[in-house]
Amino acid sequence: MDKAERKSDIMNMKIAVISGDGIGPEIVAEAKKVLDAVCDKYGHSIEYKDVLMGGASIDKYGVPLTEETINVCRESDAVLMGSIGGNTQTSPWYKLPPELRPEAGLLGIRKALALFANLRPAYLYPELKEACPLKESVADKGFDMMIMRELTGGLYFGDRYTKEIDGVTTAVDTLIYNENEIRRIAVKGFDIARKRHGKVTLVDKANVLDSSRLWRKVVTEVAADYPDVEFVTMLVDNAAMQLVKDPAQFDVMLTENMFGDILSDEASMITGSIGMLPSASLNETKFGLYEPSGGSAPDIAGKGIANPIATILSAAMMLRYTFDLDEEADAIENAVAKVLKEGYRTIDIAKAGESSLKTAEMGSLIADRI
Ligand code: IPM
Ligand code: MG
Repeated sequence: MDKAERKSDIMNMKIAVISGDGIGPEIVAEAKKVLDAVCDKYGHSIEYKDVLMGGASIDKYGVPLTEETINVCRESDAVLMGSIGGNTQTSPWYKLPPELRPEAGLLGIRKALALFANLRPAYLYPELKEACPLKESVADKGFDMMIMRELTGGLYFGDRYTKEIDGVTTAVDTLIYNENEIRRIAVKGFDIARKRHGKVTLVDKANVLDSSRLWRKVVTEVAADYPDVEFVTMLVDNAAMQLVKDPAQFDVMLTENMFGDILSDEASMITGSIGMLPSASLNETKFGLYEPSGGSAPDIAGKGIANPIATILSAAMMLRYTFDLDEEADAIENAVAKVLKEGYRTIDIAKAGESSLKTAEMGSLIADRI
């Protein structure tokens, strides 16, 4: 895509699609339905290319990620993904060595495409206050935060091994970061805070970890270039507590890979359901991989009851961040807000006894409101 293209231009978007495993194909179908409605309304077109990753790729090629998949993604403007993986206790994929399991494909593609910045917005829709597990006085205040998780460094990519040391089985994982990896995501975090509510909370464990002390030093340096953005630091254990005590205090929460993995699941749950939380994984360019923050939910796969909203909102993030189509992204987000306001719910966000929609019905209602 020509980056000079303006928003008003008609676009032909090249999108690689990884439907993946479990509920992946069901929720991706609904995101495509909504994207197609956007194209109809605004005159854009999309060329989709399906590629395999995770368990689906293991079944066909014996590996969770192929060069072919990486190349198709590289030649596309963006990647739309569902979810990968299966039941870790029963699926044969988890009898394979760790580097051949579905998750290795996801980590591999993030690294291959240099997707270092993972954006996970957690927003409490006023209509879903009742689905929020926090007490009413906290839910009433609402919250709107952006978790910015570093995605290609830290524990998930450091050396790891298991070996016998003096006859004792010992496992080692390495938490490693250099200052450049920290600086590039910090800059993105402050840029995004500037366009949001002007606050960055750095979450770390600087009272114990050297890597966290480096994060604090580098992020504090970056903060000096953004005097208009409020900058605070918070220890990760406290952050886990503050997320349920006073989530309204957060705007951009900037953090390393594993802390972000854990805290973003916590943040998704207080929005009512992990089925509501979209995500964007970006590199230094406009390229991005867009996926719901939740997993493949093998327990409900094939039942047609998964919530497609996180994937649909991920498609909106794609229009916004890769294609600069803010109006079209707003149209999707407004359509989601509208169906929620009208009272439509999938089972994960329905109140006890309330009737709920199937995945495809929810997708169609949102597409109709574009
Ligand atoms: C996520 C997931 C992945 C991660 C797993 C599936 C490897 O939990 O996207 O949050 O830990 O990054
Ligand atoms: Mg996770």
